[in-house]
Amino acid sequence: MKNVKHDFVEKNVGWLAILLTIAISVGGLVEIVPLLFQKQTNEPVIGLQPYTALELEGRDIYIREGCNNCHSQMIRPFRAETERYGHYSLAGEHVWEHPHLWGSKRTGPDLARVGGRYSDEWHYVHLMNPRDVVPESNMPAYPWLAENTLDGELTAKKMETFRKFGVPYTDKDIANARASVKGQTEIDALIAYLQVLGTGLQQQGN
Ligand code: HEC
Repeated sequence: MKNVKHDFVEKNVGWLAILLTIAISVGGLVEIVPLLFQKQTNEPVIGLQPYTALELEGRDIYIREGCNNCHSQMIRPFRAETERYGHYSLAGEHVWEHPHLWGSKRTGPDLARVGGRYSDEWHYVHLMNPRDVVPESNMPAYPWLAENTLDGELTAKKMETFRKFGVPYTDKDIANARASVKGQTEIDALIAYLQVLGTGLQQQGN
């Protein structure tokens, strides 16, 4: 009887596909669903601040320029990583990131805690031409970021959208969004974003 059933599944591709999908889904769901309900993974770490309007624009520039293709933002809990980059990443630091930029490709160093590691001036020079500060660098230069300015047209809308996903922006944050980014250069926005990366946890004294 057993063999008959097995034969049936192996000879009917449609059923094979359906049953395989069910088998794989159960395995996946058992791993994923509990995480959705765990405080540790869905509540922000104490002291976490949502990105300011300028930092949020900086994050969008980071995505537009594809920085995440070469840089991860996820420090794994291994000694080799924590000695180099600092405290390993916690899920609670990323609950307001939509989408998160953890990545896995590290052509350059992980940036999860780059905030505060260098001065704004260092970042400026580095983004304009990485070779000026790191002679052996193969990171591309981004000189246009210093010329392009932000108009802030969409900043408030972006913040409203994030608020729908649970990011605690106040009405005041949203009302001031445009004025606080308008006229700033893209490089300033990107540096503001880089300088805040990973600092939520540092403020807790970890
Ligand atoms: C082609 C791969 C590549 C891309 C794309 C790239 N980088 Fe890099 N990045 C590197 C490499 C390699 C290094 C290490 C050498 C250096 O410091 O320049 C680096 C270093 C850095 C550092 C210094 C990190 C540290 O801890 O020393 C920062 C900050 C940085 N990149 C930011 C950015 C930003 C922002 C962007 C997008 C505008 C970007 N990178 C795009 C490859 C890349």
